[in-house]
This record gives sequence, structure tokens and C-alpha cells, in this order.
Amino acid sequence: MHAFAIDAFGQTPQLQDLPVPEPGPGQVQIKVRAAAVNPIDWKLAAGALAPPGVDFPFPYTLGFDVAGQVSAAGEGAPFEVGQEVFGMRRPGAAAGHPHGSYAEYMTASADSVALAVRPDGLDPASAAALAMTGGTALALTRWLDLAEGEVLLVVGATGGVGSYVLQLAAARGVHVIAVAAGEDHDYARALGAAEVIDYRTSDVADAVRATHPDGIDAVLDLVDSRDIVTEKIAPLVREGGRLATTVFAADPDALAERGVRAVNFNYQATDQDMAELAHLAGSGALKIAETTTFPLTAMDEAYTASTSGHVRGKLVITTD
Ligand SMILES: NC(=O)c1ccc[n+]([C@@H]2O[C@H](COP(=O)([O-])OP(=O)(O)OC[C@H]3O[C@@H](n4cnc5c(N)ncnc54)[C@H](OP(=O)(O)O)[C@@H]3O)[C@@H](O)[C@H]2O)c1
Repeated sequence: MHAFAIDAFGQTPQLQDLPVPEPGPGQVQIKVRAAAVNPIDWKLAAGALAPPGVDFPFPYTLGFDVAGQVSAAGEGAPFEVGQEVFGMRRPGAAAGHPHGSYAEYMTASADSVALAVRPDGLDPASAAALAMTGGTALALTRWLDLAEGEVLLVVGATGGVGSYVLQLAAARGVHVIAVAAGEDHDYARALGAAEVIDYRTSDVADAVRATHPDGIDAVLDLVDSRDIVTEKIAPLVREGGRLATTVFAADPDALAERGVRAVNFNYQATDQDMAELAHLAGSGALKIAETTTFPLTAMDEAYTASTSGHVRGKLVITTD
């Protein structure tokens, strides 16, 4: 089968011809219909997820988000052959599980992948585009615990995570300020942003101070901008406010001294979150992020686009 894999950390991944992985006890084999691209894929390929002393098995097929059909099931597997499922591989289990979703087939167990049944109304590309970034957005929104009327600044607002956070926060009546490139401002507003700031043409902290001189309630940082976050953005948060970052840019102890609760957020995917996402998307309460699709044979194009760090919405691979 075709699989987009690496043979060592630091290598540029290539489409390779690899054996179809067979399910062991407690595992299912999934015929992949769609897989979404996430920055974690190229971070993993660079070796960033390899804990010291843990050997990763190679060749290692990349890809965390998946939608597909269960094509075989080992004894005690959590799903049956023929079921349509979607979900995401758990980053914490990545070392022991080299069969990612950038392939025609992958394997999954309850420990290695958070999965839910894909409802009929949710097509495979949309389901794949939801899993990791939608799940992270759900969990972040819970952690930020935003109340109606509070002000949230989102840095990196129009990528995968941001596309869902904007909607979930706006649905709670939060006043969302989206920091994004100017060409993405209409997209941000359509997802619920009340204000937009172009980080390419303005100083973000100055722009926020101009419209919110008394400060803001919360910040979500989705961009690797430690100096900006700690020196310029964090001081905008009022005492009693919150700051979350998915790129480990916060110093929670220093912020606690100012009465700001902060977290270097690490999403732990659950089957329940996947089911909730399916429900929210199926009911129309959550729109799927703008999605650009590529065939698996053009995987390198999608991967290269993701490494640019300037993706709008989601990039999705399909195998049909
Ligand atoms: N810790 C966790 O649990 C967790 C979970 C999910 C994701 N993540 C990480 O969180 C980050 C965001 O994930 P994602 O999936 O949303 O990534 P993404 O889809 O690549 O989106 C990143 C967004 O940031 C914007 N951006 C780039 N430079 C910027 C800057 N200087 N200022 C403001 N915006 C900027 C980009 O758009 P424009 O530049 O075009 O505006 C793009 O829309 C990634 O690093 C990912 O690995 C961590």
C-alpha cells in the first residue's frame, strides 16, 4: 500500500510502498478514507515527540487524524468490521504505534487512537478535519471557562484549532479578537470573531490596548511566539484572567504572581470528545473549518503547505 513515511527522524517523508498493517488483539484495521494534516506531523518527523531513551519503530507512517471504515478486527476490538469511524491517534502513544493515517490502511486500539462512529451526515473529509483540532478546541474552551461578554484574544485564529475555537467561544457570547493575516479576516469574522487584527501590519498589543484599555479576560496563543506572548500579550490580561498556549510559550508561575491562571496546554484526546464533535457538526452547531483536499499521491504538497505555518482552515488527504 501507499504510505507517507520516514525511515529516520529528520528525514523528508516520502510516499513508500509498505505492507498493509494487520490488527492484533484489541485492534482494528481501518481502510483510510481521509486524513487531515496537522503541524504535529512534521514536529514528530523532526523527532520532537521522541522521549529520551524510547526507540521509535521505522519505517514510521505519519498522520494523526483519520476517517475510514473498519476493514478487519482483532479479538476484543472496540469496533466491528464495516463500521465507519473517525478520530485521532494519541500523541502519547505515538512511539509504540508506527501505523499513521497517511496511508491506505492503518491500525488502531483503544489505547492508541481516540475513535467514534462517524455519523452518515458527516463526510469522511469533514470528520478528519474535525478530530485533532476540533478536540483541542473543545478542551481549550472548557479550560478557558469563558463567560458571556468576556473578551478573548486568539493568536493564530484562522488555522485548524482557531477555526473551531472562534466558533465555540462566539457561541458562548464571548467577544473574540482574532489575530490573523489580513486576507483571512473575512474568514475569521464568518466564524464569529467580533474584531480582527492583522499581525503583519500592526503591533498586536498596541491594537488591543487601543480598543480595550482596561485589559482583556483571556488569551489563547496558537503560534510559537514566546517573546511576544510573555513580554507583550500576557500583560494585557486582567487579574483573574486566563492564558492558554498550545506551543508551550507560557510561564505559569510568573503569571500566577499577577493573578493570571496560565497553562501550557497538552490535549488528551478522548472518545467522548470525538462523539461530541460528531454531534456538534452533525447538528450544524459547529461548521467544519475551510478544507483544502489533496489525493494521497499529492501528500508531499499538503505536507509542505502545512510546514509553512500559514494554513487557513484544514488540509485533508483523501484516498478515493
Ligand atoms: N499542545 C497541544 O495539545 C496541541 C494541540 C493541537 C495543536 N497544537 C499546536 O498548536 C499550533 C496551532 O495548531 P493548528 O493546527 O491550528 O495550526 P495551523 O493550522 O498551522 O494554524 C496556524 C495559524 O497560525 C497563523 N499564524 C502564523 N504565524 C502567525 C503570527 N505570527 N501571528 C498570528 N498568527 C500566525 C497562520 O495563519 P496566517 O499566518 O495565514 O494568518 C495559521 O492560520 C501548532 O503548533 C500545533 O502543533 C498543540
